Amino acid sequence: MDRQQWGTRAGFILAAVGSAVGLGNIWRFPYVAYENGGGAFLIPYLFALLTAGIPILIMEFTMGHKYRGSAPLTFFRLGGKKSEWIGWWGLSVAFIISTYYAVIIAWSMRYTIFSFNQAWGEDPEAFLFSEFLKLDVAPGETGGMVWGILIPLIIVWGLALGILFKGVKKGIEMANRIFIPTLVVLFLIIVVRAVTLPGAATGLNAFFEPNFDLITDPTIWVAAYGHIFFSLSIAFAIMITYSSYLSKKSDITNNAFITGFANSGFELLAGIGVFAALGFMATQMNVPVADVADAGVGLAFAVFPQIINQFPGMNGLFGVLFFLSLTLAGLSSLISITETYVAGISEKFGTSRSKAVVFGGGLAAIISTLFATQGGLFFLDAVDYFINQFGVAALGLVEVIMVIWILRKADGLRSHANLTSDIKLGGWWKFCLVFITPIVLGYMMFGLLKQNILQEFATDTGNYEGYTTTFVLFGGVAVAGAALILGILLSLTKWNKKHASFNEEDKKVG
Ligand code: ALA
Repeated sequence: MDRQQWGTRAGFILAAVGSAVGLGNIWRFPYVAYENGGGAFLIPYLFALLTAGIPILIMEFTMGHKYRGSAPLTFFRLGGKKSEWIGWWGLSVAFIISTYYAVIIAWSMRYTIFSFNQAWGEDPEAFLFSEFLKLDVAPGETGGMVWGILIPLIIVWGLALGILFKGVKKGIEMANRIFIPTLVVLFLIIVVRAVTLPGAATGLNAFFEPNFDLITDPTIWVAAYGHIFFSLSIAFAIMITYSSYLSKKSDITNNAFITGFANSGFELLAGIGVFAALGFMATQMNVPVADVADAGVGLAFAVFPQIINQFPGMNGLFGVLFFLSLTLAGLSSLISITETYVAGISEKFGTSRSKAVVFGGGLAAIISTLFATQGGLFFLDAVDYFINQFGVAALGLVEVIMVIWILRKADGLRSHANLTSDIKLGGWWKFCLVFITPIVLGYMMFGLLKQNILQEFATDTGNYEGYTTTFVLFGGVAVAGAALILGILLSLTKWNKKHASFNEEDKKVG
């Protein structure tokens, strides 16, 4: 079967950047950075980016390019059944992430409309939780369906699946060619405006001022790794799938650097924009930035509308720009997350792409309605936290240990990347993957497990966000565990004949 391919190099880069730049950059990064020590978070963040993020991105691009398959097929071709389950685990994590990711895009879409006349009123926080999310149930309860979220959610899935139906070149590549340049322009306008607001410097100081007391805490290190992986779309099947559509002669390493730096550049810009705006609001209210910088998932949807209310002019326009940026960034990433299981399902079971879109995407869309219920935000918060720490971050660690330590593919992958890449990979790449990532991330992961799971579960008091142990176990830990179990189970099913083999000839680059 002929494999679909990107039309051009720029098309691939735009799609990869479109995948990487997402809600992670605008919605997640500012609050994760703020919760984990502000400026101090930038140290583990940059360390994780340079020693794990970019090296793993290069590794995944090379794997996809060399083995030309979805994540499960790539891991199967790489190490047989011994490693196939890792591909399925990544795919299951992507599936779970897509179910709540789509809901946040639905909120953004709705908030774009609210922005025109600042429909959130004088108290955006109360509006968010009471009127919009209707969050008057306890964590773990669903309550009724919230139609104001469900309807945009249906539109989000309709758009994403419609684009996926059209295939790699005519669907994904085309959509990103429109979304990404638009996003960059919109976002630059907002950031420039934010940093020129009175009081912006106060916000930037709060953002960059490091709280060094936290630097030895394993939680912030795992948070940094988890965030880098989420933000770069690595360790959950995406970049392997996208690079499997590259032509045989494509560059790998340079594309990875461009994608990685574009993503982090965008992310830091988002952090600067958000904190400059927070500084402005704090100055207007004459309070410290800490009082206005709400940690948690509400930062974009509670605090930002409040800032928009106080803008000196063109309030509606800036609201629209911000929430439209969030919507576009989210959509281009949702497409890539969903493509992982569209590709995996169609290759393993030999179904057409359209059927895989309907079945895989349809199932994810149905499950995602859970997050459109009154108790949806609590589920979303718990699933997002646990799937990142024990799905994405753990997966990155296991992936590196399997590919580099157990299967010993570092040299083979390096020579493969060097065959077609402008930038030749040196020893630093192998060093990061053989030593730094497994040791630092492994050590931090162990510390986190000890701290979060073993000690805190003994009581109800130290749980994440103060949730009850039952909710954390079922709403968070069990979901992250289910991804692993589902991954293992799927790897036990049989390959359809077309994809089971991969002859040596194929491995040679043309
Ligand atoms: N990489 C995507 C994001 O940052 C998933 O949101």
